[in-house]
Amino acid sequence: MTAAGRFISLEGGEGVGKSTQARELAAALQAIGIDVVLTREPGGSDGADAVRELLLSGADERFGPDAEALLFAAARADHVRKTIRPALAAGRWVISDRFIDSSLAYQGGAGGLGIEVVRSINAFALGDTFPDRTLVLLSDEGQARAQLRDTGASDRIGGRSEAYHHKVETAFRLIAAEEPDRVRLVDASGPKEAVTKRLLDVLSDLLP
Ligand code: TYD
Repeated sequence: MTAAGRFISLEGGEGVGKSTQARELAAALQAIGIDVVLTREPGGSDGADAVRELLLSGADERFGPDAEALLFAAARADHVRKTIRPALAAGRWVISDRFIDSSLAYQGGAGGLGIEVVRSINAFALGDTFPDRTLVLLSDEGQARAQLRDTGASDRIGGRSEAYHHKVETAFRLIAAEEPDRVRLVDASGPKEAVTKRLLDVLSDLLP
């Protein structure tokens, strides 16, 4: 029987260097012989990528908060079924750049639906597939976002108000406090090598 792989998600607000760290972490794990699938949300499968387009483009009022949360969950259901579950079953590790905790923090905490409502919507999408560990990157609040806004790089959700993004950050901290075994806060400041090292340290008990 193949040993089941591990499922790691990387989370955080806008512009904290998450995608770079997801790549660096995947490379570091590969270097010690772990077979890694790197994926991201919204997206990670054909169907989920199509939903991503709907979610991240157009006017902010295109979807109400309930439809938005359901669409993220729908994309996630496809991502889990087509990409994540098969990889784990084959004994591979999965690193996902964002996963359920983005929905809990953005739609639940900041969007006003409440974390528990969004958790229950996602329960159907996920079944028994859940991250073994979730690393939340925290950087100097506001600074990274302001930079993205100034360069016009924000999308439908990234472009929301400072108040919205402040609530996202607060929600991530709350989730980490509620689930300390799974969810760990990691300082995203300093050279990228130092940040990757912090991420690896927080995974050390899962490594072979
Ligand atoms: P993306 O281009 O992947 O940005 P980032 O580099 O910040 O990860 O855009 C994803 C956007 O969608 C981001 O603003 C966070 C948001 N999002 C949610 O609101 N809920 C979710 O469940 C997910 C996965 C993402």
